[in-house]
This record gives sequence, C-alpha cells and structure tokens, in this order.
Amino acid sequence: MASRHWTESISRCNRVSSSVCSGPNGAGKTTLISALAGLVRPDAGRLRVMDHDVQQDYRAARRQLGVVPQELVFDPFFSVRESLQIQSGYFGIADNDAWIDEILENLGLASKADANMRMLSGGMKRRVLVAQALVHRPPVIVLDEPTAGVDVELRQTLWAFIRRLNEAGHTIVLTTHYLEEAEMLCNRIAMLKAGRIVALDTTHNLLRRFSSHTLRLRAEGSVPAGLLQGATESGGWWSLPFDAFDEVEGILTRLRGAGCRINDLEIGKPDLEEVFVRVMQGSSARPD
Ligand SMILES: Nc1ncnc2c1ncn2[C@@H]1O[C@H](COP(=O)(O)OP(=O)(O)OP(=O)(O)O)[C@@H](O)[C@H]1O
Ligand SMILES: [Mg+2]
Repeated sequence: MASRHWTESISRCNRVSSSVCSGPNGAGKTTLISALAGLVRPDAGRLRVMDHDVQQDYRAARRQLGVVPQELVFDPFFSVRESLQIQSGYFGIADNDAWIDEILENLGLASKADANMRMLSGGMKRRVLVAQALVHRPPVIVLDEPTAGVDVELRQTLWAFIRRLNEAGHTIVLTTHYLEEAEMLCNRIAMLKAGRIVALDTTHNLLRRFSSHTLRLRAEGSVPAGLLQGATESGGWWSLPFDAFDEVEGILTRLRGAGCRINDLEIGKPDLEEVFVRVMQGSSARPD
C-alpha cells in the first residue's frame, strides 16, 4: 500500500534522468551543489533548476530541489519525525504526516520515528538526511556522496531507493568517488577537475571513447619482440587493448605460431576507472 502511494505521488517530473558527478577531492562537487541550493553565491555564471534561476527565482528553484548533504548535519534536540516536520515547515507544508510516514517506511526508518536524532547511528542519520530532502516532494534530488562510509546493507538499500525514485520520475544527481556505483546507477556522468567539467557524456560513450577491452595473459618464457604490438608488460602479465573480439583469435594464433605457451589468460572489460584516470591526466583544467 505504502509503496503504491509512494510511486503514484512522486511521479510528477518530466525530465527523468540519473546523472553522476565525479572528480578528485576538492574538484568542486560540493561547491556546485551548494550553489545550486543557494548556500553559496557564484561569482559568475547562471544556475537554473527546472528552468528556475537559482538567484532571481530562488524560492521556486529551491522548491524543485531536494539536497542530501555530504556532511552529517542534524539537530540533536529533535526526534526523526520532528526533524521531518520542521523541514516540511521550511517549505510551508503544514500537514505532511501521511507523506512523512511513507518516506520513513520506504527508508527503513519507521521504527526510529520517535528516536532522538543524537541516538541514531551514522547510517541511520544519513537515511534521515535523505528523508529530509524528500519532504517537499522535489522533482530533482541531489545526493552528495550518499554512500561514503556506509555499510553494504545501507548502500544497497540506498541504491534500490535511488533507482525507485528515478523510475518514479525524479531526476537524480549524485556525486561519488565509487565509479562502479556511477556506472551502475547513472546514465550520464560529469567529471570535474579544479572547478571545471572536463567530461560530460553518457556512461556508454565515455567507456567507448576512453576505455577498451584488454586481453591480459601470462606466457611461459619470453614473448618475441614485436609479437604483441601495443601491449605493456608488468609482473609477467601482458596487457593488450583490443576493439573487437575476433582480434583475440589472431593474437592467440600469432602466439601459438611463435611457439609461445600461454599459462594464464583473462579479458578485462572497459572500465570507468580507466576513463577517469585518462580524463584527469588528459585535461588541463585549472581554476581561474
Ligand atoms: N564559497 C567558496 N568560495 C570559494 N572557494 C570555495 C568555497 N567553498 C569551497 N571552496 C573551495 O572549493 C574547492 C572545492 O571544494 P568542494 O568541497 O566543493 O570539493 P569536492 O569536489 O566536493 O571534494 P570532496 O570529494 O572532497 O568532497 C575547495 O578548495 C574549497 O576550499
Ligand atoms: Mg564534496
């Protein structure tokens, strides 16, 4: 019952996408989110949330946005439910209890509704921050490193929850250092370096442009020079990037023809970590 309501009542957004923003520590991810939420004022440029200018049309822009902050900020004097009621009050919503109950249930917080915030574990506090971001049913939800330092169970709960929100019509933007998470959850990825976006594309395109399949093998004895052109060797393992699987057959035939015996062999898939490293190495973004 709760989850049917949940899906019906939050599917009001016409731009459904899930994007991730990644970048080294200090790249500017949190600063960008703070500017979106009106917490810091940019020196230059314009920011709009669902076409509402963050500065000129602040109230409307803020109403479109739910932000889950990176830091665990909470008021130690209130219970979970009170915190959510107070947050609802900031958006002028007086009677929000049915919705609050639904959020609590969907985040596994129902049994903690009356617990004081300071009595909750770190993971539970993070769930409350997610709940706070949702009280006004925003079409756009921004999560700043939602899974940093959380245990496996909570990470999976959050992933499932984020997916459900996205499927229900919410636009999701999240920042993460876990590229596996980015690949799994999001269809577009932005990479930031020194305050600038140095890559912005679909996960598929980024993988195609900056990464490839790699044939990795260990041969008995030495491999004749020139036989594995473009390959690198480390600790006895040869790594050879390739584009199409039928190239592998040719490589193995050449090795066999040269009398090389293969002791071990594996195929690595295109990898966002490789994309990240190459984008960061290749970009020359510098702060102004
Ligand atoms: N209001 C501000 N004005 C100017 N610079 C700021 C402001 N707020 C933060 N910074 C600086 O911007 C840089 C980016 O910080 P930010 O917290 O956005 O990084 P981040 O990408 O979120 O890093 P992390 O991955 O560690 O969370 C830092 O050097 C920080 O000191
Ligand atoms: Mg940050």
